[in-house]
Parts: sequence; structure tokens; C-alpha cells
Amino acid sequence: MKKVEKPEKIMFSGIRPTGPLHLGHLIGALKLWLPFQKTHECFFFLADIQGLTTHFNESERIRKSLMEVALDFLSAGLNPELPNVHFVVQSMIEERAALYEILQLITNLAELERNPTIKDELKQLKDRGQSINFGFIGYPCSQAADILFVSPLPPHHKEDDLVIPVGEDQKPHLELTNDLARRFNQQFGNVFITCRYLAGETPRLIGTDGQAKMSKSLGNAIQLKDSSENVLEKVMKMFTDPTKQRKGDPGHPKECPVYKYFQTFLTDVDQNERATKCSSGKLGCVECKRELSIVLNEMLEPIRIRRSIFEKEPEKVLQFLREGTEVARERAKKTMAAVRNAMRIDYY
Ligand code: TRP
Repeated sequence: MKKVEKPEKIMFSGIRPTGPLHLGHLIGALKLWLPFQKTHECFFFLADIQGLTTHFNESERIRKSLMEVALDFLSAGLNPELPNVHFVVQSMIEERAALYEILQLITNLAELERNPTIKDELKQLKDRGQSINFGFIGYPCSQAADILFVSPLPPHHKEDDLVIPVGEDQKPHLELTNDLARRFNQQFGNVFITCRYLAGETPRLIGTDGQAKMSKSLGNAIQLKDSSENVLEKVMKMFTDPTKQRKGDPGHPKECPVYKYFQTFLTDVDQNERATKCSSGKLGCVECKRELSIVLNEMLEPIRIRRSIFEKEPEKVLQFLREGTEVARERAKKTMAAVRNAMRIDYY
């Protein structure tokens, strides 16, 4: 078992393993998480149970994805060989499930029903004709248990001691988490700490089809494990400014999905230079897309190299999961003992 020094600050974030990760995850999550490995105790959480709330009949896919995502994490540079970095499998912490059951008692149904992210997702599920299960409606409360099991910190902890860098859609879940933490503490005495939402700076990456969101299910994603040929092919199929028909026509970078990618991946100076070249008609779309594929491939290359190393060692990847989950589980046990004690349900 890993030796962990008494942590002062914790970073916690997670993903549901429903498929391989893509560029949107890289810039929206993974890159945001990387620097915390130097300053915080980090829990990178694989929320397989949460994935199963909408894919309960696809447990084999979730199982496969869990290993894929662990590989994606490693490839992106998350390093569970550091003593303060843990990869955690949600379903393997029984005390977390016990905590979820307790938090259900202080969660109002109305609180779940008015959660804007739940409302959106419910609508999508209904549109697809999927039936909605009890576990789905409750997942924000389950997510509160994911986060709160890392309590307690030393008693002198501050607001910023537990940070959760996640996408904006997760904010309502963090608000619920803090409401539940405070509600519990008020009723039963101080057990839980509250957490702080941390937004990424990069705006959401659009899909290669120009749609608002890069998403595996929309088929418009560049995956971290795509080969350089795959990336070139996907980029060459991208739409550009529809009014620019041939090379000499002046382009409108602001209307162009390809330019939006450059805005994410180039420095301001390089972006401006490119915009000027495009608007003046000097830069053709084919050439521009080829250049984008080079930029993306340069960024993905070190990720691919790390992936090729870990891919050959599935036993080692499993060992990372085992060790990280064990550290998390020890914390969850302590938290549950404190919860039982505070609630006077520690009978013997
Ligand atoms: N809901 C998150 C997502 O869909 C995944 C997640 C589960 C999570 N538990 C978490 C994120 C705890 C942050 C903290 O991506």
C-alpha cells in the first residue's frame, strides 16, 4: 500500500468511463488537472457506477472503457507512480456506496428535480426513448458521496483545501454537494468539508463537424488514441468558412470551425497571423487544414508514445487502479466511521 503524507490540499475530479477520451477531454479536463500533481493530493476518479446509470445493459463496455480511460489518463501524463496521485475506481469502494445511502436521507427530491444538468440529461434520454431509472435521478447525490468521502481534512482546513476542476455542467452537482455537507454538519456535527468548483479557462472544443460539442456519440471527435493518419483524415473532412469557395477568396476566420481549433491550440500572435492570411485570401483551406493536422499531431505524439508503453503492461495499469482505490477506500472508511458516530448509528 502507498504511503501518503498528511495532505493539506486535495484535488478531486472524475470522468464516467463510457468510451475513449478525445481532444475535448484533453483541453477541458486532463490539461487542467496536470499541474495539481505538483501541489495537491490528487484523486482521479473513474465513475463506472455513474456510467452504468445510463448504460446498465452495457457493463462489458463500461469495463473495457475503464481500462481505456485509465490508459488515456496515463498517456496524458497523469502519474499514479507519484505518492500523492491516485486513480480510483468508484464501484470498488463499498464505503462510498454506504455514504451515498446516508446522503440520500438528507437530499430532497425537489433538489434533484430542479437540477439543470439533470433536467437537460433527462430530456436527452427521453428523446432517445430510453427509460429512466431511479439510479439516474439520484446520481448527483451519489456524486456528492464521491467527493465527500475524502473528508475529513485536518480541523483547521480552509475553503480552498478541496478543489474540484470540472466542466460547467457539473457545477449544480457541486452546489448540491456543499448543501448536503452543510446540512449534515448542522444536523449531526462537523464531519464534512465543503469543496470549491474550479472552472477551466479554455472554452469548450467544438466537434470536427462544427457542432457545439465534441462528443464520441456524435461521431465528431478526435480521440487521444487516433493515429496521425486518422487525425489527418478527420481534419481534412472538416468544414471551413462556407463563403470561401476557392483558394483566392477572402475567408472569414470567425465563421470557420478550423480557425476555432487554431484559437484553442495556437498562441495569440500565431492566431492573428493566420487570421490575416486567411482574410486576405492568401491561405487556402486545404493548406490550412493540413497545418492544423500537423499542430494536433505534434501535440498528440508524446501522448501516443506514453500510451504505447503502458498498453503493453495491462497488469501495471490494474495495479495503479488497485493502489489508488485502496488509498481512497481507507479515507472512505474513516469518513463513514465518523458519519456513523455523528448519527448515532454505531451500535456496536
Ligand atoms: N459527473 C462527472 C462526469 O460526468 C463524473 C464524476 C463522477 C465526477 N463523480 C465525480 C466529477 C466527482 C467530479 C467529482 O463527467
